[in-house]
Amino acid sequence: MYIDLMSPKKQAETNNKNPKAKKVYIETYGCQMNQADSEVVASILANDGFAITDTADNADVILLNTCSIRDNAEQKIFHRLSHLRQYKKKKFKLVVGILGCMAERLKTKLIGERDLVSIVVGPDEYRSLPSLINQAIKGEQGVAVELSKVETYEDITPLRTEGVSAWLSIMRGCNNFCAFCVVPYTRGRERSSSYDSILQQTIGLYESGVKEVTLLGQNVNSYNDLNAKKDFPKLLEGIAQALPYLRIRYSTSHPHDMSDELIYAHEKYDNICNFIHLPVQSGSSKILKKMRRDYTAEEYMERIAMIRKNIPGVSLSTDIISGYCTETEEDHQMTLDLMKEVRYDGAFMFKYSERGNTLAEKKYPDDVPEEVKTRRLEEIIFQQRAIAGEINEAEIGKIHEILVEGPSKKKEEMWQGRSDTNKMCIFPYNGEKEGDILKVKVVSANSATLFVEIKK
Ligand code: 5AD
Ligand code: SF4
Repeated sequence: MYIDLMSPKKQAETNNKNPKAKKVYIETYGCQMNQADSEVVASILANDGFAITDTADNADVILLNTCSIRDNAEQKIFHRLSHLRQYKKKKFKLVVGILGCMAERLKTKLIGERDLVSIVVGPDEYRSLPSLINQAIKGEQGVAVELSKVETYEDITPLRTEGVSAWLSIMRGCNNFCAFCVVPYTRGRERSSSYDSILQQTIGLYESGVKEVTLLGQNVNSYNDLNAKKDFPKLLEGIAQALPYLRIRYSTSHPHDMSDELIYAHEKYDNICNFIHLPVQSGSSKILKKMRRDYTAEEYMERIAMIRKNIPGVSLSTDIISGYCTETEEDHQMTLDLMKEVRYDGAFMFKYSERGNTLAEKKYPDDVPEEVKTRRLEEIIFQQRAIAGEINEAEIGKIHEILVEGPSKKKEEMWQGRSDTNKMCIFPYNGEKEGDILKVKVVSANSATLFVEIKK
């Protein structure tokens, strides 16, 4: 079922003008999936008469949409809760709720946390939020943490913040059970939204002025609508054909599902961006096996060769974990060597953080000392910066097409846009508009940014 895209927005505007509507502030942590989920939560609440506010200062309800992927992500939330106690002192009836992965992982243990938390709601229970909030306003506590095999929220049009880019969640959960990862436990089994609902939503987004859509899922390339007989390459193809001027991105991919068909879809359609995020995690096949990643370093490199052969100029990024259980100096060196061989344009790099209940926690010792994890991570980051710097320097003089996003977040009087290859491009503002697609020439570069001039 497709719902008019403007409806949650109009609903929210009406509620915001109603002085009696309870004001909800949603703060989002973690991955893009969480950002997309917060937009679904905002839509559900707006539909039920709540006002959505962008500051905690005047809120009646504060919801933290949380992440559990590493211990430091959870520590951040506990600190934030300590800080939020001051709001409770000012407004005794303030309701504070925890949503997302931490809610699912810690469940009832979070109730009463920092004498503050009265609602705990997991990722598949957001439809119950309005009633839980109403009960909490009356002083009751509520926990809803059932995981679902079918919930996709595909009938809910997210309440998005304005912008030229939009996220669209196309599948939820994960069946991979990588040994280090808590996600299959916090987000449950894999399930896909229907092909029709995704196509309708993308068309609606395009018609409302969105120029770029990122299709989201924990493992998007195992997307499958069994009824419509559409797998991920077919979904991409369907959107690319229906909307030839919409830029299409997706995240995140698992190497063992990076099929030839998907690579051919990139080759065939100009509007599927020349950028692939393909997490490798480690360059050592021994470690990959202990991670349950289902590929060897050699097989990963074969996928990379296939991608490079068929998608000229493709930009690649990855995720790396340093200091995983039993990782030796040789394993670490293999990761550095693989990164040198691939020459990634970008990488997200982390220290291994043991998570309760995962296979790694049960089976392997977390035996790499903290200072060794830190040193290895620093070496990985140092090398990656140097490589990205070299790649970007080689871009000088080249022409790109960028989608203008608006004022630069880092440099005054400059604006930013993103290339098809996902590079952040900065240029001096001269009357350009958000959503413009412009040809630019690279004039200088560092490891994170290209500085460009607009080609007239
Ligand atoms: N420790 C460190 N990094 C992790 N990731 C997932 N689980 C852990 C963990 N326990 C990283 C992986 C994944 C990314 C989203 O987060 O690299 O691809
Ligand atoms: Fe976690 Fe692996 Fe699933 Fe990614 S594919 S969410 S790392 S279990």
